[in-house]
Amino acid sequence: MPFPVTRMRRLRASEPLRRLVRETRLAPEQMILPLFVCPDEGVRKEISSMPGQAQMSIDLLVKECLEIRALGLGGIILFGIPASKDEMASGGYDDNGIVQQALRALKREVPGLVLITDVCNCEYTSHGHCGKIVDGDVANDPTLEWLAKSALSHAKAGADIVAPSDMMDGRVAAIRSKLDQSGFERIPILSYAAKFASCFYGPFREAAESTPQFGDRRSYQMDPPNAREAMREMELDLEEGADMLMVKPAMPYLDLLAKARERFDVPLAAYQVSGEFSMIMAAARNGWIDQERAMMESLIAIRRAGADFVLTYFAKEAARLL
Ligand code: PBG
Repeated sequence: MPFPVTRMRRLRASEPLRRLVRETRLAPEQMILPLFVCPDEGVRKEISSMPGQAQMSIDLLVKECLEIRALGLGGIILFGIPASKDEMASGGYDDNGIVQQALRALKREVPGLVLITDVCNCEYTSHGHCGKIVDGDVANDPTLEWLAKSALSHAKAGADIVAPSDMMDGRVAAIRSKLDQSGFERIPILSYAAKFASCFYGPFREAAESTPQFGDRRSYQMDPPNAREAMREMELDLEEGADMLMVKPAMPYLDLLAKARERFDVPLAAYQVSGEFSMIMAAARNGWIDQERAMMESLIAIRRAGADFVLTYFAKEAARLL
């Protein structure tokens, strides 16, 4: 029965009515905050392209995480900035590496907070690529060993979930078998399954000091126009043993979240990446956009498209508003 019998505005008349019929909600436990841990003590190094975000030494990270636990966030995802880098990314799988040390401190000082680690090599290689360089490109199979070793050392140090973000073929299987052989069959894998070679990672590379020193990541991260290929990536990661899937970036790829939600029944994550965060912050600082509303609208849109949870630099601010 069309207008005038049907009037869509009836249910929009007041906030209590709107709240009653709201289809998508956002809760603190559906957000994961990315954090950058660096060496030494008492260090808080602001990231200029990501206002409010900083590299932190372990002592300050622990304080931050106490606050995060109190806010009820879903957890954190840790990125490490090592004291030194080399060709072999050895800081990534060193049992005494920066992330491993941070994990041990957090497990001890902030029990109950879900600790996810990003498993990748780009923060640890002198050339900034995500794997071993052979003949000017990242060699797939030799890189798997580094990734599996990193994931295992994270699990040993206290990671609750490992999240490979390198986009090598076969990394989920390599990590699963390494973890299982070593008694960590209970540790889940959150796969950055559909990760695109995106310009929106720009600010992160300042934060993580991981800009490739030559070339780019297009021979391993996905080509942005490809949606069917993203479904294949996700399918393959599930076959290899991924427990959860991620789409990254989030807002420019909402179509893929919606498709993945219909196809796969595993928990689905989305990463609202550094560039998405920085664009909102920059526009807000110019007075061009309302920061709080842009933050909440973007997060709810990502949830509406199909994400169960969102990795976002807004996690704390959004949780405070909820
Ligand atoms: C590591 C990694 C990156 C991001 C998450 N893990 C950078 C990249 O692939 O270049 C990006 C996160 C962000 O932009 O917020 N490979």
